[in-house]
Amino acid sequence: MVNIAIFASGGGSNALEICTYFENHPNIKVSVIITNKPNAGVIGVASKFNIPSYIIGKKNMEDGSLIAILENHKIDFVILAGFLLLIPTMFVRQFENRILNIHPSLLPAYGGYGMYGHFVHEAVYKNKEKISGMTIHLVNEKYDEGRIIFQAECALDVHDKPEQIAEKVLKLEHKYYSQTIENYINSFVS
Ligand code: GAR
Repeated sequence: MVNIAIFASGGGSNALEICTYFENHPNIKVSVIITNKPNAGVIGVASKFNIPSYIIGKKNMEDGSLIAILENHKIDFVILAGFLLLIPTMFVRQFENRILNIHPSLLPAYGGYGMYGHFVHEAVYKNKEKISGMTIHLVNEKYDEGRIIFQAECALDVHDKPEQIAEKVLKLEHKYYSQTIENYINSFVS
């Protein structure tokens, strides 16, 4: 069995999709959920699926205690689903090529420090873009710069406000993230 950990800071709608997709999966299991926000929606997702969850701080990402949690749960891959803390270098090295992130734009456009969630959709709106989309990529030491694994785009309407753009992009995220995780892991371990 390949064990995965989901890291999330927010509402957790992607985490919910991923937990549902892998609930009865033959070789991939969501074994732990990590958040840095005590009231994140993802804690509810963890209890719905009976998955152990941990609330951590920035310090725990660097002092080895988060790595220890992941080792206790024999975690092979880390899946970021709206996780907003930067992943420190020692962590990236420990899980080299085994950390995936989802970003709500067509990277490299609208990526980097401070570009997350609604800030991305507001910038896309302001620039009157005709398309947006989502990117799934490997994580390295820099925000949103790791190798791109998968992208999907959506057409934007002139009347779309940031909220409508967010809705269209989130729909793509829900449609493709779990499947991309599965394909990536299976190609990695086979
Ligand atoms: C998603 O749109 C994800 O792409 C974005 O946060 C949202 C989390 O939604 N991630 C980033 O902006 C990372 N830079 P969710 O909590 O409902 O899954």
